[in-house]
Amino acid sequence: MGIIHESQHPLVKQKLTILRRTSTDPKVFRELIREITLLLCYEATFDLALEPISVNTPLGTADGYNLVEKVGLVPILRAGLGMVNGVWEMMPGSEVWHIGLYRDEETLQPVAYYNKLPDAPTVQVCLILDPMLATGGSSVAAVDTLKTWGVDRIKYVGILAAPEGIEALQYAHPDVDVYVAKVDAHLNDIGFIVPGLGDAGDRQFGTI
Ligand code: PRP
Repeated sequence: MGIIHESQHPLVKQKLTILRRTSTDPKVFRELIREITLLLCYEATFDLALEPISVNTPLGTADGYNLVEKVGLVPILRAGLGMVNGVWEMMPGSEVWHIGLYRDEETLQPVAYYNKLPDAPTVQVCLILDPMLATGGSSVAAVDTLKTWGVDRIKYVGILAAPEGIEALQYAHPDVDVYVAKVDAHLNDIGFIVPGLGDAGDRQFGTI
């Protein structure tokens, strides 16, 4: 079974508190999404493979390391967009592959609308970036897409998850590790995470 990692980092807890607050405006909301994602990705990338190298310093030679695997950052449009840039700065050699999915408001089923993945995979590890794991439908669909592409090391990085969504993702893809700031209480009757933070896409883009 994949890891379900709920961050215990004090900075994540403090930033999530401000993120949730109704009065937090879109600019601060975007900054917090970026910062929390960075902290979560620090935790999610703990097992990236390294190869030893040596480097010349001004005073001699030092042992060092290279990242071996190519990492793909996969934001789920549109709310995942705000999770890309901070992580990308930390891992500038990674590739960004967008997947467009929205959740039908009536059925809560994911609807795919954008995918430009090339035929053959170009990365070995994918980090799916999407702030909300609610029913789990979108994350299951995103993992389906990446596995069909040919990537088998996939991690999900989100801000909030509902227990229902984690269960659905684990059932469909037990090999996928999940990194979130917090697992919240439950979903309400229209599929929103409670207590949650509202609509992560609308709050980032000011479209409420
Ligand atoms: C939200 C969120 C996830 C999905 C989660 O996106 O960003 O992609 O819903 O729900 P699920 O786990 O029940 O599938 P939304 O459909 O609101 O689209 P948006 O990012 O374009 O706002």
